[in-house]
Amino acid sequence: MPQPPRKRPGYKSKQSWQGGHGPRREDQGQGSAGRFSSGPKPQGKPAFARKSAQEQGWDQVAGWYDKLVGDKGSDYHRNVILPAAMRLLAPKAGEKVLDLCCGQGVLIPLLLEAKVGRVTGVDASPRLIESASARFRNEKRVELVVADACAPGPWADGSNDAAACIMAVHDVPDLPAMARQVAAALKPGGRFVAIFMHPCFRIPQQAHWGWDEGRKLQYRRVDRYGVPQEIPIVTHPGQGGGDTTTFYHRPVGEVLTAFGQAGLAITVCEELFSHRRSQPGPRAKGENRAVKEFPVFLAVSCVRLS
Ligand SMILES: C[S@@+](CC[C@H](N)C(=O)[O-])C[C@H]1O[C@@H](n2cnc3c(N)ncnc32)[C@H](O)[C@@H]1O
Repeated sequence: MPQPPRKRPGYKSKQSWQGGHGPRREDQGQGSAGRFSSGPKPQGKPAFARKSAQEQGWDQVAGWYDKLVGDKGSDYHRNVILPAAMRLLAPKAGEKVLDLCCGQGVLIPLLLEAKVGRVTGVDASPRLIESASARFRNEKRVELVVADACAPGPWADGSNDAAACIMAVHDVPDLPAMARQVAAALKPGGRFVAIFMHPCFRIPQQAHWGWDEGRKLQYRRVDRYGVPQEIPIVTHPGQGGGDTTTFYHRPVGEVLTAFGQAGLAITVCEELFSHRRSQPGPRAKGENRAVKEFPVFLAVSCVRLS
């Protein structure tokens, strides 16, 4: 099994969750590309040591995350992620749908609006499941389960018509195991949609906006990409916090291979761009152009092979 990547001591993200997605001035000096030449890890294998929900940190930040996302989702949820999720998943009336790593349940109201017959929300954080339970306590179609998405469980019982995993592919330590559980949860022919931070352009601490004064363009600088990384994220740095969650960066081939090897055939791969635009100013044109060139999220639709 590949060894977990070594952590750099004191290596912490200064960005908040989902921070830095919009046009931004250059971030300076984050290492040297020449040092990272060991090449990609073998694909389709778990690259990171398993962690409990407690160790992953989501339970500790559940209150903050619930507030950030609220009933209708963060800015990116509302404008980009949720519309794409619903369009790609295309849930039908009466269907049974799994929301894996559901968090506090941001996708669930849209599934209920689409008149699905049943939603099972699964998440490793008891506190986030508690928040979701409070939201949907009167909704008989919703079942919420505290469970590890990377381990077999009664929820992965082959009964679901469709499944979604929104903004969590990079939060699980063992993606191949999670993909196998998704396949186990679906009926043959069942649909799966995953939306996650774009692995090529959105790597915390390792991808940044820069400004080229000569060409008047905003560029995206990527310092590290090809080697999986375990990156601690400080969730709310400006608020006296210091709680960290772990972001698992994997090269895009490793992510897609995890789905394919689990028997989830990829039918659509869409790159999702930010809806945000710069304020008028000398850099606005260059910044807005960059926003249309560099996607923020990757969305993948799959079908479970029989
Ligand atoms: C960024 S949040 C996304 C939550 C929700 N889907 C949303 O879009 O708001 C990532 C979620 O993944 C969950 N998670 C991380 N690792 C998990 C695991 N191994 N099993 C189940 N859930 C996990 C966390 O508890 C957290 O709720």
